[in-house]
Amino acid sequence: MKYDILESLISVSLKAGSLIRHYYGGKDFKVSEKKDNHDLVTTADLESQEIIINELSSRFPDIPVIGEEDQHIIKREHAFFIDPLDGTLNFVKQLPFFTVSIGYWKDNQPVCGVVFDPLRQDLFYARVGMGSYHNGKKLFIREDDNKSQLLASDWGHDSSHFKKNILVIQQLLKKNSYLFRFMGCASLAICYVGAGILNGYWHFSLLPWDMAAGVLIAREAGASVTLLNGEPFDLWQKDILAVAPHLKDKLLPVLTNIK
Ligand code: IPD
Ligand code: CA
Ligand code: CA
Repeated sequence: MKYDILESLISVSLKAGSLIRHYYGGKDFKVSEKKDNHDLVTTADLESQEIIINELSSRFPDIPVIGEEDQHIIKREHAFFIDPLDGTLNFVKQLPFFTVSIGYWKDNQPVCGVVFDPLRQDLFYARVGMGSYHNGKKLFIREDDNKSQLLASDWGHDSSHFKKNILVIQQLLKKNSYLFRFMGCASLAICYVGAGILNGYWHFSLLPWDMAAGVLIAREAGASVTLLNGEPFDLWQKDILAVAPHLKDKLLPVLTNIK
């Protein structure tokens, strides 16, 4: 049987999402620390990854799979990039922003991606060149130039970037036209830029599985997605600016000049 990749990503994200929902708010999951005491992994992360990897490896045995919770990560241009639970700290604290995020990349370019928010049953997905969708409705970026512009970022796990983030916000506050949010779930925030809920999102230190799906979803909706220095987005460069096109030239000079 020949499976469609995007349809497979959707069906496995829904399955993994219902597992995460099952654990959410309960006590029957284990929490362990990874590199630091804010970087956590739970039973839900591990079981979600297992469901996704088993299903994708059996349907597409020739496509390498890279999951956040893998022990060894090899840099690849062709793979499924899996964040089995993006927003683990939110999940543990019961802050209701977390997703399952899976991107499929070939020749170092995104082909299709899915981000599923299991609490709201919000399904974002995209196929390259075919647009992006939210629960079946096509996404178009909003150019609401006149209203307050809602920007978001996150702190990440690398404290060497915290000061830079504060400087960016200080600079942007001077412009008097931006409001800020920190959701703690990068994949969802990037999709929200595509949906026009947020007008821009930047992050100094993300990993491929945080961005692999959202990048395509935001881009197919009409967002500009680049590195923080304005160069073309690269999944392995660890930073991102996803923004409504009318704001790109306003944010880039601020982000580029922060050292
Ligand atoms: C984290 C979230 C968060 C971002 C961190 C990521 P995780 O993912 O996306 O928003 O700031 O850098 O690591 O660890 O919850 O999958
Ligand atoms: Ca993540
Ligand atoms: Ca994760």
